[in-house]
Amino acid sequence: MSTTVSDLYKENYEKSISNPEEFWGEIAQRLPWFEFPSTILSPLPNGHYDWFKGGKMNTCYMALDAHVENGRADQTALIYDSPVSNTKLTFTYAELLEKVSKLAGSLQKLGVKKGDTVVVYMPAVPQAVMAMLACARIGAIHSVVFGGFAPKELAMRIDDAKPKVIISASCGIEVQKVIPYKPLLDEAIHLAEHKIQNTIIFQRPEVKAELKEGFDLDFNEVLESGEPTSYVEVEATDPLYVLYTSGTTGKPKGIVRQNGGHAVALHYSMEYVYGIKPGEVFWAASDVGWVVGHSYIVYAPLLYGATTIMFEGKPIKTPDAGTFWRVIEEYKVTAMFTAPTAIRAIRKEDPDGELMKKYDLSSLRYQYLAGERCDVATYQWLQEKLGIPVIDHWWQTESGWAMVANMVGYGVNPTKPGSATLPVCGYNLQVLDEEGHELPAGKEGYVTIKLPLPPSCLATVWQNDERFVAGYLDHFKGYYFSGDGGYKDEDGYVFITGRIDDVINVSGHRLSTAEIEEVVASHPEVAECAVIGKNDELRGQVPMAFIVVKTGSDEEKVIKEVIQEVRDEVGAIAYLKEVLVAQRLPKTRSGKTLRKTLRAIVNGDEYKVPSTIDDPAILTEVETLIVSKK
Ligand code: COA
Ligand code: AMP
Repeated sequence: MSTTVSDLYKENYEKSISNPEEFWGEIAQRLPWFEFPSTILSPLPNGHYDWFKGGKMNTCYMALDAHVENGRADQTALIYDSPVSNTKLTFTYAELLEKVSKLAGSLQKLGVKKGDTVVVYMPAVPQAVMAMLACARIGAIHSVVFGGFAPKELAMRIDDAKPKVIISASCGIEVQKVIPYKPLLDEAIHLAEHKIQNTIIFQRPEVKAELKEGFDLDFNEVLESGEPTSYVEVEATDPLYVLYTSGTTGKPKGIVRQNGGHAVALHYSMEYVYGIKPGEVFWAASDVGWVVGHSYIVYAPLLYGATTIMFEGKPIKTPDAGTFWRVIEEYKVTAMFTAPTAIRAIRKEDPDGELMKKYDLSSLRYQYLAGERCDVATYQWLQEKLGIPVIDHWWQTESGWAMVANMVGYGVNPTKPGSATLPVCGYNLQVLDEEGHELPAGKEGYVTIKLPLPPSCLATVWQNDERFVAGYLDHFKGYYFSGDGGYKDEDGYVFITGRIDDVINVSGHRLSTAEIEEVVASHPEVAECAVIGKNDELRGQVPMAFIVVKTGSDEEKVIKEVIQEVRDEVGAIAYLKEVLVAQRLPKTRSGKTLRKTLRAIVNGDEYKVPSTIDDPAILTEVETLIVSKK
């Protein structure tokens, strides 16, 4: 080993792997359970494990009531900073508890009970946090859908989650563009087969949504008329939420998170992954529609008694590339978390960090990055400009918290650009070859986690355990299949090289090329198509479509329509701008399109012509087409 890694980390990591029950059993003691779990770890027939069986609890109680009871009533729990609506608000733990209890009471009055689902389709406003916590309070399962998704995507999630109620807002604000949400919501409700009972709409001053009497309820009226309600006791293994994420098919999968493991792991992560003390300010510049928003805008900081920030804006243009640094100074942020794409956007606007220099960033101890691979140039720029540890860490919607990180709570380890550092305690990370054998240092393969996964990781796929087993447990028996490729170096540092499936990451937003491809293929004049991820300097990746059009079609018109359809059906975040018209697509003899080869050509990566190729001349044709468009 050439790098010296903290002994405390090594000791704890080893214990977490050799004796997970003892390790997590001790950590679980830190949380205010109603009844401590009778079993820490229980194997399941499908090869997976449950954490904390028999534990009785309530996540909202742990995140709010317990702090109010223990002297944090007047501490700020939530700061809302919205440059796009010129609003700044703060809520103490007591204030947030009061609002959440009332909203929870109103939901109960509407008939929402333990085990029911509620969809939340909202921009970054505090009412989204209230909605999530109110569900948790009454044991209802929330499913937050990112506001950038189009009605069809929302409808798919409504049909899968089958909510009784949807909580939404009258609009979102994208820099200066006001996006009315109600028409999108109405269309989604119309498209969905599942019929919901009510919507609850938070009316923002920028847009007043029209409400259908008796069906659409006004958020503020519902909240104000609510009788504060107490928390409902749930089992540690009861689901807290379902969060849809893109897989390799067109249908998103509902990742199910259980209450107990989630609370324990997130609480632990605040101290050991983020190095935060209760009462300090933590800021995740993400959106509640993504897992980072769930875990680090809402639950972890509150479970831990910290102060969290909900920021409604962009890293640039709201109003400029200094906005992140302004927020850090203004609220004395201790640790901040964002996606590399945001830093790339800032660096492009402010390459010398002139805007950064205007602010006092002395409160900031650590800067965290995740959501996509961080390129070395961006990493080094940020490290040099900030002069504090910049920590790239790897995780997924499925895990809900970091799987590889520099665990600063055990002492900061030396970093290596391009690596997210070392496996987090509880994650027995192994890089396997095709046959499931562990690969030696330096050899790239499938990044897997030997079971059991630590607490908080997905329990299953909502209403589809078969998909869960097929997608995550069946590839290598006894291992969780992450879908990422990567390698470990001789010091055990983990380098994630990217997805080995059709999932892409556009500006830190996880999307499936299969999902986009379905929309492209549905155009009546598209005979066949392939969508792949193209590397992009700002966004990390962007989708790119190859289409073969039917004879006699107007190519330019088809291209425009395809782009518009993806925008309308997936959402503007899909960012499909490049569509190439090919005469034919390269395929294997069995008829499978060679997407991987297309991706390699587009990105200038090395590739071998597959031995199974049907007609090599087609590949040459497509190569020429790509080169001619560069
Ligand atoms: N609701 C509606 N539309 C949305 C939306 C939302 N919540 N989020 C994005 N969009 C739209 C944008 O308005 C834009 O539409 P346009 O094509 O009409 O302009 C489109 O989707 C693409 O948006 P975006 O990817 O945000 O591009 P951008 O050029 O506006 O900004 C970045 C580029 C890099 C600054 C921005 O993507 C960014 O801040 N990324 C960081 C994301 C992040 O933190 N993710 C968290 C994961 S941890
Ligand atoms: P999501 O589920 O949206 O959080 O996306 C998870 C995926 O993003 C992972 O499977 C990785 O492909 C990618 N990802 C997240 N964090 C990192 C990171 N630090 N380095 C490389 N890739 C990352």
